[in-house]
Amino acid sequence: MPESQTTDTVSNSGVPEKFYVRFTREQRYMHAVLFTSFLGLAATGLPMRFSESFWARRFATAVGGFGSILFLHKFFAVVLTIAFLIHVKDIFQRAFIRREKGIFWGPTSMVANWKDVKDIFGHMRWFLGLGPKPKFDRYAYWEKFDYWAVFWGMIVIGFSGYAMWFAPFFAHFLPGWALNAVLVIHSEEALLAVLFIFSIHFVNTHLRPDSFPMDMVIFTGVESEEEFKEKRALEYERNAKLGKLEGRTGIVPPVWLLNFSKVVGFTAIFIGLLLLVLTLTAYFS
Ligand code: HEM
Repeated sequence: MPESQTTDTVSNSGVPEKFYVRFTREQRYMHAVLFTSFLGLAATGLPMRFSESFWARRFATAVGGFGSILFLHKFFAVVLTIAFLIHVKDIFQRAFIRREKGIFWGPTSMVANWKDVKDIFGHMRWFLGLGPKPKFDRYAYWEKFDYWAVFWGMIVIGFSGYAMWFAPFFAHFLPGWALNAVLVIHSEEALLAVLFIFSIHFVNTHLRPDSFPMDMVIFTGVESEEEFKEKRALEYERNAKLGKLEGRTGIVPPVWLLNFSKVVGFTAIFIGLLLLVLTLTAYFS
C-alpha cells in the first residue's frame, strides 16, 4: 500500500484513529544508516581508546586483534561519511535547486529561532508547575539541539579522523603539532558524542514520559493523530488550517514492522547503554 494511503485503526477509546506521516522512507533509512554506523564506530573506537581495559582486550581477541578493530572502524567511518555527504547534498538541493521555502527559517526549519528560546523557559516553568506546557512545532528545541550536536560532531570527528588516517597527506598543509592535536580532538569529541547520544539523546527521544519506552516514529515514519496533536500541536493546527492534513495521512504501521522496530530499537539502546557503562567504568578506573 502506498505510504500516503490512509487506513483507520481503533484506539483504546473505540474511536477510529488516523495516522500521519512524520518521516519519509528516505529519512528513516538515513537514520538507520546513521545509528548503525555510529554504533559501529563507537564499538570499535572505544576499545582503541581504552585498550588496557579487560573488555577491550577480549573484544580485540574475538575479532582478530586491534588491527581488525581499526579496519572495522574505518569501514563504519566510510559508511557514515557517505550518509553525511548525501544529507548535505539533499539540503543543498532542497534549498538552492528546488528553492524550498522555510528550510533555513520558519516553523518547519531545523534552525533555532526566538520561539525555541521562549520554549526552553516555558518548558522549565512547566516542569516546576508554574505554567502551561508550551506548544511545539515540527521540531522542538531539544530535537534541534540533537540534530546540530550530531551535525557539528560529524564535521569535527570526521575531519580529525581523516587527518589521522591520511596523516602523510595532511602533513603537506598542517603543522606537526596539529597532527598530534587531531588525535586528542578526535578522542575527546568522540567521547562527548558517545556520552551525549547514549544518555541525553536516548532520554530526550525515547525515555520521556510521552514516548516511553520507545518512540517508534523514526522506524515506522507515522504517528497517530493523538500523538501528533499532543506532541506537535502547532504543526497539527497549522496543517489543519491550511487543509494539508489529508495529504499527510499514512498507513497504520503493520505488526511485523512494529515488532521489527522494537527488536532493532531495543538492541540499539542496549548496545548504547552497555558502551556507556563500559566507557564510564574505564574512564574513572
Ligand atoms: C568519519 C568518521 C571517522 C573517521 C574517519 C575515524 C577515523 C579514526 C582513525 C583513523 C582513528 C585512529 C586510530 C589509530 O590509528 O590509533 C580513530 C580512533 C578513534 N575513533 Fe574514530 N573515526 C571516525 C568517527 C568516529 C566516531 C563517530 C567515534 C565515536 C563514536 C570515533 C571514536 C574513536 C575513538 C574513541 C578512537 C580512539 C582514539 C584514541 O586512541 O584515543 N570515531 N578514528
